Amino acid sequence: MAAFTERMALLLMLWLVVSLSGTWAVDRANFKTCDQSSFCKRQRAMKPGESPYRALLETMELTNTRLTLQLINDNNKVRLLLELYRLQGNITRVKINELKPLKPRYEVPDVLIREPPTEPLSLLSQDENGVVLSLGAESQRVILSARPFRLDIMEGRNVLMSLNSRGLLAFEHLRMRKDTFSYKVTSTVASVWDNIKSVFSSQADPEAEKKEEAEPANQAETAEDAGKEEDGMWEEMFKSHSDSKPNGPSAVSLDFSLPGVEHVYGIPEHADSLRLKTTDNGDPYRLYNLDVFQYELYNPMALYGSVPVMLAHSAQRTTGIFWLNAAETWVDISSNTAGKTVFGKMLDYVQGSSETPQTDVRWISESGIVDVFIMLGPTPKDVFSQYASLTGTQAFPPIAAIAYHQCRWNYNDQEDVQAVDAGFDEHDIPYDFIWLDIEHTDGKRYFTWEPHKFATPKEMLQNLLDKKRKMVAIVDPHIKIDSNYKIHNEIRSLGFYIKNKDGGDYEGWCWPGSAGYPDFTRADMRAWWASMFAYDQYEGSMENLYTWNDMNEPSVFNGPEVTMHKDAVHGAWEHRDVHNLYGLYVHMATAEGLIQRSGGVERPFVLTRAFFAGSQRYGAVWTGDNSAEWDHLKISIPMCLSLGVVGISFCGADVGGFFKSPSPELLVRWYQTGAYQPFFRAHAHLDTPRREPWLFGPENMALIRDAVRQRYTLLPYWYQQFYHAYKTGQPVMRPLWVEYPQDPVTFGLDDEFLIGRDLLVHPVTEEGSRGVTAYLPGKDEVWFDVHTFQKHNGAQNLYIPVTMSSIPVFQRGGSIISRKLRVRRSSTCMEHDPYTLYVALSPQRTAEGELYIDDGHTFNYEKKEFIHRRLSFSNNILSSINLSPESQFSTLSWIERIVILGASKPKQVTLKTAGAEDTQLEYDFDASMSVLTLRKPGMNAGIDWTVTLE
Ligand SMILES: *[C@@H]1O[C@H](CO)[C@@H](O)[C@H](O)[C@H]1NC(C)=O
Repeated sequence: MAAFTERMALLLMLWLVVSLSGTWAVDRANFKTCDQSSFCKRQRAMKPGESPYRALLETMELTNTRLTLQLINDNNKVRLLLELYRLQGNITRVKINELKPLKPRYEVPDVLIREPPTEPLSLLSQDENGVVLSLGAESQRVILSARPFRLDIMEGRNVLMSLNSRGLLAFEHLRMRKDTFSYKVTSTVASVWDNIKSVFSSQADPEAEKKEEAEPANQAETAEDAGKEEDGMWEEMFKSHSDSKPNGPSAVSLDFSLPGVEHVYGIPEHADSLRLKTTDNGDPYRLYNLDVFQYELYNPMALYGSVPVMLAHSAQRTTGIFWLNAAETWVDISSNTAGKTVFGKMLDYVQGSSETPQTDVRWISESGIVDVFIMLGPTPKDVFSQYASLTGTQAFPPIAAIAYHQCRWNYNDQEDVQAVDAGFDEHDIPYDFIWLDIEHTDGKRYFTWEPHKFATPKEMLQNLLDKKRKMVAIVDPHIKIDSNYKIHNEIRSLGFYIKNKDGGDYEGWCWPGSAGYPDFTRADMRAWWASMFAYDQYEGSMENLYTWNDMNEPSVFNGPEVTMHKDAVHGAWEHRDVHNLYGLYVHMATAEGLIQRSGGVERPFVLTRAFFAGSQRYGAVWTGDNSAEWDHLKISIPMCLSLGVVGISFCGADVGGFFKSPSPELLVRWYQTGAYQPFFRAHAHLDTPRREPWLFGPENMALIRDAVRQRYTLLPYWYQQFYHAYKTGQPVMRPLWVEYPQDPVTFGLDDEFLIGRDLLVHPVTEEGSRGVTAYLPGKDEVWFDVHTFQKHNGAQNLYIPVTMSSIPVFQRGGSIISRKLRVRRSSTCMEHDPYTLYVALSPQRTAEGELYIDDGHTFNYEKKEFIHRRLSFSNNILSSINLSPESQFSTLSWIERIVILGASKPKQVTLKTAGAEDTQLEYDFDASMSVLTLRKPGMNAGIDWTVTLE
């Protein structure tokens, strides 16, 4: 075994050297295609056709809240149990499991925030063909047809979504292995494996196999139904890795048809366009958390995280599908309008030959059950609320976490940290967090410090604290196997490591060398992990030290696809069942640790690379190890938008690109883009030249400083958006179609986005750009350039000439945005600073906005210790009213200026506040731009006031 690991170490080093110095592209051969994943291949071989499943109506039981009935597969007579629920808020839940599985099948725990509340189901009609159930709202019904089994969800006369309409429901029931002998894989060489197979396998005769290839198998004829055993059902090889599959085949799959839908979104994480593509001519989109070295763009390969949620959008309606399954999952998308040009569609229409557009999707998972939540909208915002009611909303971050983060692999020692910190002051660039990557530890033992380079961590942290700044240190979930390491010893003695298939502790190769992986699926393990963040456990930690969880897919350098063997064991379950949940659990336990160390007072900040549905509750995610290339800058937009629409608002990409070295131009453009994305962190690979902003000459430094400062001035707006996301589940960074759901121009935009409702950002992401064309939506809207205050009409493509200093950003007419213009060292230093309100008038001369203020770092907002005000302008009166009269909080901040865009010149301006004399305000009016600036109104930001223009 020792020899084996040493050889692995050598191979690994060789691999790292080759990869780092060689070609800059993912090694695709390290990752499976659908064809190389036996369940995907088996399921995908089924073509649409008559489903063998029949609903046994005589088994139907309908209680007030639940319908159950049995489905039978007419080919193999295996019965399934269907459960159907109507949940609060226009959600239908459909569960399908085996009626009598050989052993329980995995049902995903800990992702739903509670057992979702149900609403009464009622039977509208029933005959021998099926049943019709009422879903309450607006004549919504479910039609359950018996032969073959299918479900149609209708509203009025329109079908919103159909399940199993293409007959692709498949459920590989658990079974005993037919061949009772068991053979041991004695070698990991694939050719030997092939020999073994050809001698011993119970494979059907090769003639039949050929025939099957010739005519694509119809569902009714699949090998599984016929009781045949195919390749990969009981064991499977990938490269040198074998997967023992003690439970045999266990995949589930189901199809959904979406009439009227041409646009689907979501199912992150993929480095692809926002609008998902059809997969007919390639692999399905894959959801399997993987550490993909140098990922390729515009491709459906799996990446670090998975959220099995898809949104379907048309001008009429938005719906969503949440497929609650944590196993490896593939999603196929096809469309009857794919490939048709707009002209072709118009021609169809003119000739009357146009068929209704339709998108068909099909989900395939390796194990578990079918547990699907159908969110019926009808608007994008309804779908966001519906999804949030199931999995929760974005954790409300401390305000510092939405400021700027300075990271690299690595800041070498305490002197380095101090020098970088001083560099920011010297160049007058604000930052809130400096980050330490794996090299800060004592030999990749997390929760420790390299004894020479970080000899006095508390002194280092105190120096930062004195400047109101913070630090993040990395804590990864692979634990060095070393009997002198306390963390390892405790995990081993508590029996908390994941086990291998033979019952020993699972060992894999990662940064520290040989490592164990704690079983974060166990609540007792997570509680122990959380306790390790206590100040008296985590030596050298202080209140301004926060955490970064990397490599939590989990990454296993010598594992199949650089991750854990699927037959590793988590108690009663295989890693196969829980894989996509592992990263969420690491994030959950770490966030809990940071909360507990403060006695439940302070908000945590934890960044994770791997994630799943529900990860939004624990902190931020980033898009992993990207590259210093223009295309990687561009893709940061659709990647974060795709996360935002499935609940994960706190998203960012490494500014500058992780691998390679950005040109100064690319770096500047990346700062300008990142300054307007939710999580704003610069990061760089160990082997890249240093990248602190002042290393690129005074001009570039000034451009970067300006971008970072724009971020700081806008923190009040960002913070209010995050509060809103936490309260409602609406994304912070959102695609334009969320706000303009009926405007088809917005459906495919990848190069611009909104922050909240009111700010539109079209960053410059092209090299050598002299101008960008931004689409300004809304035929009744006007948009104000935030830099020049120039007004533009909506529903137009606007060409904007740009220079290196340009960041095209527009404020919607009809909105009020608050900023703090006195930028200081860090967000904390700006806490009590005054606000400037930007009131952008709509064509009707109205505007609305909100102002949210609290202490910025504790959970006291849950006890109503905050200020939440509505700002509105109408009839020439601007007012601030209390949205939360029962709240208790006061602020030292006041309103130092009000800028009204699209205004006319008043004769006088009067400020009224409760209990004070009315005052006349001084103002400037810029007639050429119609900008009215009220100087020093001076009222406290937390009180009621009105300003009247006469
Ligand atoms: C439910 O759907 C109906 C009809 O489409 C809609 O009017 C209503 O607002 C929806 N309710 C929620 C909570 O989404």
